[in-house]
Amino acid sequence: MTINVLFVCLGNICRSPMAEAVFQHLVNEADLTDQFRIDSAGTGNWHVGEKAHPGTRQILAEHGIAYNGRARQVTRQDMADPHTYIITMDKSNSDDLRRVFGPHANQYRLLDFARETAVTDVPDPYYTNNFETVYQLVTDGCQGLLETIRQREGL
Ligand code: 4NP
Repeated sequence: MTINVLFVCLGNICRSPMAEAVFQHLVNEADLTDQFRIDSAGTGNWHVGEKAHPGTRQILAEHGIAYNGRARQVTRQDMADPHTYIITMDKSNSDDLRRVFGPHANQYRLLDFARETAVTDVPDPYYTNNFETVYQLVTDGCQGLLETIRQREGL
Protein backbone atom coordinates (compact mmCIF):
# COMPACT_ATOMS: atom_id res chain seq x y z
CA MET A 1 0.00 0.00 0.00
CA THR A 2 1.34 3.42 -0.96
CA ILE A 3 1.08 6.24 1.56
CA ASN A 4 0.32 9.58 -0.06
CA VAL A 5 1.62 12.75 1.57
CA LEU A 6 0.82 16.19 0.14
CA PHE A 7 2.49 19.28 1.61
CA VAL A 8 0.54 22.50 1.10
CA CYS A 9 1.48 26.18 1.43
CA LEU A 10 0.30 29.38 -0.24
CA GLY A 11 2.56 29.73 -3.27
CA ASN A 12 4.21 26.26 -3.54
CA ILE A 13 7.57 27.90 -4.12
CA CYS A 14 9.05 28.32 -0.60
CA ARG A 15 7.76 26.21 2.29
CA SER A 16 5.89 23.21 0.87
CA PRO A 17 8.56 22.36 -1.73
CA MET A 18 11.11 22.49 1.10
CA ALA A 19 8.97 20.15 3.21
CA GLU A 20 8.44 17.83 0.25
CA ALA A 21 12.19 17.63 -0.40
CA VAL A 22 13.16 17.19 3.27
CA PHE A 23 10.48 14.54 3.87
CA GLN A 24 11.46 12.64 0.68
CA HIS A 25 15.09 12.75 1.86
CA LEU A 26 14.16 11.32 5.29
CA VAL A 27 12.00 8.62 3.67
CA ASN A 28 14.84 7.66 1.32
CA GLU A 29 17.32 7.51 4.24
CA ALA A 30 14.91 5.20 6.08
CA ASP A 31 14.73 2.91 3.00
CA LEU A 32 11.00 3.54 2.70
CA THR A 33 11.02 5.17 -0.76
CA ASP A 34 8.72 2.57 -2.32
CA GLN A 35 6.10 2.96 0.41
CA PHE A 36 5.46 6.66 -0.21
CA ARG A 37 4.23 9.08 -2.86
CA ILE A 38 5.22 12.57 -1.75
CA ASP A 39 4.19 15.83 -3.43
CA SER A 40 3.46 19.48 -2.72
CA ALA A 41 1.04 22.13 -3.98
CA GLY A 42 -0.13 25.67 -3.25
CA THR A 43 -3.55 27.02 -2.40
CA GLY A 44 -2.81 29.94 -4.75
CA ASN A 45 -2.02 29.87 -8.47
CA TRP A 46 0.36 32.84 -8.84
CA HIS A 47 3.51 30.75 -9.29
CA VAL A 48 2.20 27.71 -11.19
CA GLY A 49 4.97 26.19 -13.33
CA GLU A 50 7.79 28.01 -11.55
CA LYS A 51 10.82 26.41 -9.93
CA ALA A 52 11.17 26.68 -6.15
CA HIS A 53 12.29 30.06 -4.78
CA PRO A 54 16.08 30.58 -4.98
CA GLY A 55 16.22 30.73 -1.17
CA THR A 56 14.60 27.30 -0.88
CA ARG A 57 16.81 25.83 -3.59
CA GLN A 58 19.93 27.23 -1.90
CA ILE A 59 19.15 25.99 1.60
CA LEU A 60 18.29 22.52 0.25
CA ALA A 61 21.53 22.44 -1.74
CA GLU A 62 23.49 23.48 1.36
CA HIS A 63 22.04 20.45 3.16
CA GLY A 64 22.67 18.09 0.24
CA ILE A 65 19.00 17.65 -0.62
CA ALA A 66 17.88 17.50 -4.25
CA TYR A 67 14.71 19.18 -5.53
CA ASN A 68 13.50 19.68 -9.08
CA GLY A 69 9.76 20.21 -8.68
CA ARG A 70 7.64 22.94 -10.23
CA ALA A 71 4.84 24.82 -8.53
CA ARG A 72 1.25 23.70 -8.99
CA GLN A 73 -2.09 24.45 -7.36
CA VAL A 74 -4.02 22.06 -5.10
CA THR A 75 -6.81 20.25 -6.99
CA ARG A 76 -10.07 18.65 -5.92
CA GLN A 77 -8.51 15.30 -6.81
CA ASP A 78 -5.64 15.91 -4.37
CA MET A 79 -8.21 16.24 -1.59
CA ALA A 80 -10.46 13.36 -2.70
CA ASP A 81 -8.70 10.47 -0.92
CA PRO A 82 -9.40 10.63 2.84
CA HIS A 83 -6.25 8.55 3.50
CA THR A 84 -3.87 11.05 1.91
CA TYR A 85 -1.93 12.97 4.54
CA ILE A 86 -2.61 16.66 3.84
CA ILE A 87 0.10 18.62 5.64
CA THR A 88 -0.21 22.41 5.70
CA MET A 89 2.39 24.99 6.73
CA ASP A 90 0.14 27.36 8.67
CA LYS A 91 -3.36 28.01 9.93
CA SER A 92 -4.34 30.10 6.93
CA ASN A 93 -3.43 27.21 4.57
CA SER A 94 -5.61 24.89 6.66
CA ASP A 95 -8.49 27.37 6.70
CA ASP A 96 -8.19 28.00 2.95
CA LEU A 97 -8.32 24.25 2.16
CA ARG A 98 -11.34 23.74 4.40
CA ARG A 99 -13.15 26.68 2.87
CA VAL A 100 -12.54 25.55 -0.72
CA PHE A 101 -12.72 21.75 -0.40
CA GLY A 102 -14.55 21.12 2.90
CA PRO A 103 -13.19 19.15 5.85
CA HIS A 104 -10.58 16.45 5.19
CA ALA A 105 -10.20 13.47 7.54
CA ASN A 106 -6.40 13.40 7.49
CA GLN A 107 -5.35 17.08 7.42
CA TYR A 108 -2.76 18.51 9.84
CA ARG A 109 -0.36 21.38 10.27
CA LEU A 110 3.28 20.27 9.86
CA LEU A 111 4.36 21.67 13.23
CA ASP A 112 1.69 19.58 15.01
CA PHE A 113 4.38 16.89 14.66
CA ALA A 114 7.42 18.96 15.70
CA ARG A 115 9.26 17.85 18.85
CA GLU A 116 11.74 20.69 19.32
CA THR A 117 9.58 23.80 18.98
CA ALA A 118 6.33 25.21 20.31
CA VAL A 119 5.87 27.29 17.14
CA THR A 120 2.69 26.18 15.35
CA ASP A 121 2.96 27.95 11.98
CA VAL A 122 5.93 27.82 9.59
CA PRO A 123 6.66 31.52 8.90
CA ASP A 124 6.53 32.51 5.25
CA PRO A 125 10.09 33.19 4.03
CA TYR A 126 8.66 34.90 0.94
CA TYR A 127 8.19 37.81 3.33
CA THR A 128 10.82 37.14 6.05
CA ASN A 129 13.62 35.81 3.78
CA ASN A 130 14.66 33.63 6.73
CA PHE A 131 15.09 30.33 4.95
CA GLU A 132 17.40 28.83 7.62
CA THR A 133 14.75 29.18 10.35
CA VAL A 134 12.17 27.69 8.01
CA TYR A 135 14.51 24.80 7.22
CA GLN A 136 14.98 24.00 10.95
CA LEU A 137 11.24 24.09 11.61
CA VAL A 138 10.40 22.07 8.50
CA THR A 139 13.00 19.42 9.43
CA ASP A 140 11.67 19.16 13.00
CA GLY A 141 8.13 18.74 11.67
CA CYS A 142 9.11 16.23 8.98
CA GLN A 143 11.02 14.04 11.44
CA GLY A 144 8.02 13.91 13.77
CA LEU A 145 5.63 13.35 10.87
CA LEU A 146 7.63 10.38 9.59
CA GLU A 147 7.76 8.82 13.07
CA THR A 148 4.01 9.28 13.48
CA ILE A 149 3.21 7.78 10.08
CA ARG A 150 5.55 4.83 10.70
CA GLN A 151 3.73 4.08 13.96
CA ARG A 152 0.27 4.57 12.49
CA GLU A 153 0.93 2.59 9.33
CA GLY A 154 3.15 -0.06 10.95
CA LEU A 155 6.27 0.71 8.88
P1 4NP B 1 5.10 29.87 0.09
O1 4NP B 1 5.52 31.40 0.02
O2 4NP B 1 3.61 29.83 0.40
O3 4NP B 1 5.91 29.33 1.21
O4 4NP B 1 5.43 29.28 -1.24
C1 4NP B 1 4.83 32.34 -0.77
C2 4NP B 1 5.18 32.48 -2.10
C3 4NP B 1 4.54 33.42 -2.88
C4 4NP B 1 3.56 34.23 -2.33
C5 4NP B 1 3.21 34.08 -1.00
C6 4NP B 1 3.85 33.14 -0.24
N1 4NP B 1 2.92 35.21 -3.11
O5 4NP B 1 2.10 35.96 -2.57
O6 4NP B 1 3.20 35.30 -4.32
